[in-house]
Parts: sequence; C-alpha cells; structure tokens
Amino acid sequence: MEISVLLAGDLEFRTAVNAALDGRYSVVEVESVNAAADALLASKPYLACIDLRSSSPAGVAICGRIKGAAATRLLPILACADSGQEALIAALDAGADHVLSYPPPAAELQAKMRAALRARLATERLEDTSQVIFALANAVEAKDAYTEGHTERVGALAVEAGRLASLDEETREALRQGGVLHDIGKIGIPNEIINKAGLLTQKERIVMNKHPIIGERICEPLKSLRSLLPIIRWHHEKLDGTGYPDGIKGSAFPVPAQILQLADIYDAITTDRPYHRARTRASAIEFLHGEANKGWRDHELVKLIGTAAENLNLGRTRDEDIPPPPAPIGQWRTE
Ligand SMILES: [Fe+2]
Ligand SMILES: [Fe+2]
Repeated sequence: MEISVLLAGDLEFRTAVNAALDGRYSVVEVESVNAAADALLASKPYLACIDLRSSSPAGVAICGRIKGAAATRLLPILACADSGQEALIAALDAGADHVLSYPPPAAELQAKMRAALRARLATERLEDTSQVIFALANAVEAKDAYTEGHTERVGALAVEAGRLASLDEETREALRQGGVLHDIGKIGIPNEIINKAGLLTQKERIVMNKHPIIGERICEPLKSLRSLLPIIRWHHEKLDGTGYPDGIKGSAFPVPAQILQLADIYDAITTDRPYHRARTRASAIEFLHGEANKGWRDHELVKLIGTAAENLNLGRTRDEDIPPPPAPIGQWRTE
C-alpha cells in the first residue's frame, strides 16, 4: 500500500521535509488552505506534515480544517514549530499530534511518522469493529419490518429524557448508542418468535428473554461500547426485581438503563406492531404510570419521558389517527 503524506508549507519547508523523508512516502504538496482542502479530498492522505512556525500563517488554518471535519479528524498531524515551550503548546493546541523542531531531524521525523501511522491504524481497526456491530444492529432491525426506525427513535427519546434529567454528555451518548444496540441480541432469536402475532408460549418466552444477555456478549469485547453494557443487559428489568435477566431491584437498576427501557416501551406501544394497536402519547404515558404503580417503573422518569416525547413530537396525539390492529390483539409485548 502506498502511503501518501500531505505536506503543507512554503517551498523551502517542503524541500527540507522532503529531504528528511528521503523518498519513503508519496508526497502531496500544498501551500494554501484551499489547496490543502482539495488534496484531502482527492488523495486521502494517511498523515499530514504541516509548517506551524510563525512564518507560516496558513498552517494553523490547515490544522483547523483537518481536525474540524469528521472525515479527516483522525488524520495524524506532524508539525514543525518554532523553538520554545510557548510555540510547542500553541502547535499542540492547533491540533498537532507530534511536534518537531525545524529543520526536522530526519531520523526523528521518520520515527514520529511511524508512530503516528501505528496509532492511526489502531484507531481505524477499532472504528471498523464498532461499525460492524452497529451494522449488525441495523440488520436485526431490518429483520422485523414493524419496528422500522425503532432503535433510532428510542435513542433520540432516551437522550432527550437524559438531558432533562441532567445526565452528563458521556451518559447521553451511551443512551443514543444504547438506543441502536439494545436489541442487538435478537440476532440470536428465531424470526418466528420475534414476529409472532400473539401470545408467546413459555418456551418461546424463555428464548426471547435471552436477548439482553446475547446482546451484552456481542458488545462486551469492545472497549468503546463498555459503558453501554448495563443498558443492554438490563433494559428489561423492573424496579421491584421481577424483570429479566437478573431480577435486579431498586437502586441496583441504573437510571440510564431505566431511561432507555422507558423510551423503548414508549416507542413499542406508540407504534403499530403485528401484535398490538398503537396507543396515543397520553395513553402510553398513562400506561407507564400504571406500571410505576405496580412498582415496576419510576414515576418521575415516566414524566420525563412524557416531556421528552412531547419535545421531540414522538407518538400520535389523536386516537383517530391510529389504524386498527393488523391482527387480533394477543398480548402486550414491549421487547
Ligand atoms: Fe426495543
Ligand atoms: Fe429488548
């Protein structure tokens, strides 16, 4: 594989760096921000080497362009800076991942390039793996035509409720991803059970109830998904300890998992399914308060879900807008 390097700076800089690189990489040379933007699109470089000395004003803007766009955010930047700690800090703040003096000592430049490439490949592999899991989640959703858009809505509703509950940004991100991934374990459940219109037999119920644990196992190996594991494993627990798979109770049932679960049930019962007619928003919230009365859910969190659904305009508000059920109503299912 030919590794291309974006080299940004004036002619003197490019000549010096080229000399230090000794022809080991294929180099794309640019001098301005616009030329850099074009080169990023056209030649998809693996590394960037940028002049960030004060004599090169375009350098900072080029760094900003690279680190500011999702497509190039992971591109490692090696920079040459003026000597002194202040210049070093300014270069790091501008987005440089490695900083060298000028002219760059050849051995050091090449070693830092190798280090940056190793880091880049490692991050890419990580991203690839989690992409596969998200793709798998979409495949699971596609298995069940009636739940189209379910995972995305659940994520959005849970994030909004999390915001109302003042949960931190990291937890809200876990809720968004949890929305997509919570039912990934259904990949291990036969289609006849997932799409069955009507009551599940006890045997089928036992199989269906395994999906949270299967989901947790799928995501477990990935460090980047670790904060989601409790959400995935416990999205069918109940506060009084009668849920599954662990029967955890009260404060052992984490708030983010409770929020995701409420968003999940809310979406399940406000959308049309083969096994039930959808409810209106008000009726769904009433239903959830009813479950809170039984000791299963938390009234305060149910209220937050109601406000979040209103803020996002999720669920129908008029009963007459809801079509009749496609099949006789057998049972409420909220997986
Ligand atoms: Fe769900
Ligand atoms: Fe589920």
